[in-house]
Amino acid sequence: MSLNVLIGEEKINKKIEELALNITDYYKEMTDEIVGVCVLKGSVNFFSDLVKRIKLNVRYNFIQVSSYTGEVTTGSVKVKSWLDEPLENKHVLIVEDIVDTGNTLKYIVKYFQRQNPLSLEITSLLMKTVHNHEVNVKFPGFEIGNIFVVGYGLDYDEKYRNLPYIGYIN
Ligand code: IMP
Repeated sequence: MSLNVLIGEEKINKKIEELALNITDYYKEMTDEIVGVCVLKGSVNFFSDLVKRIKLNVRYNFIQVSSYTGEVTTGSVKVKSWLDEPLENKHVLIVEDIVDTGNTLKYIVKYFQRQNPLSLEITSLLMKTVHNHEVNVKFPGFEIGNIFVVGYGLDYDEKYRNLPYIGYIN
């Protein structure tokens, strides 16, 4: 098995700068504080690099959900850990690594909305274009085709997460 680079470090950094600028611009008229929700484990690198560049106070929250085994989505979302503060009256930004079918985000959004946040938006570093996701990702990063990618937080059975670039397996 060999790995090819799909998106290199420099491109990732540039995109994150851009996203952080857009996110800051979008919120700054409304608020000086947002809640950033990192969807573990895959979003850990993206979250960390993104929040450093957002010029607002970002409260950190982490949830862990999974729906994949190897390269295959199981279709059902498993929650391993959840929020540790209420979202009511907060501006909430969900930080996701990749949207494939959109099932994970739909699940998260459904439960978050029940808490009556002031606003609820999504940023995702990667979006697969194969599916109609039916979720509104306000701050999208890169669009990619129907390939399984690893690195920069993304794994294949817990491997390759710490690669500094996004790659695909040949
Ligand atoms: P969805 O629920 O089908 O949108 O899948 C979203 C989740 O599946 C992501 O948060 C990832 O954890 C995982 N995932 C989807 N596609 C990939 C991939 O190409 N590589 C690694 N993980 C993926």
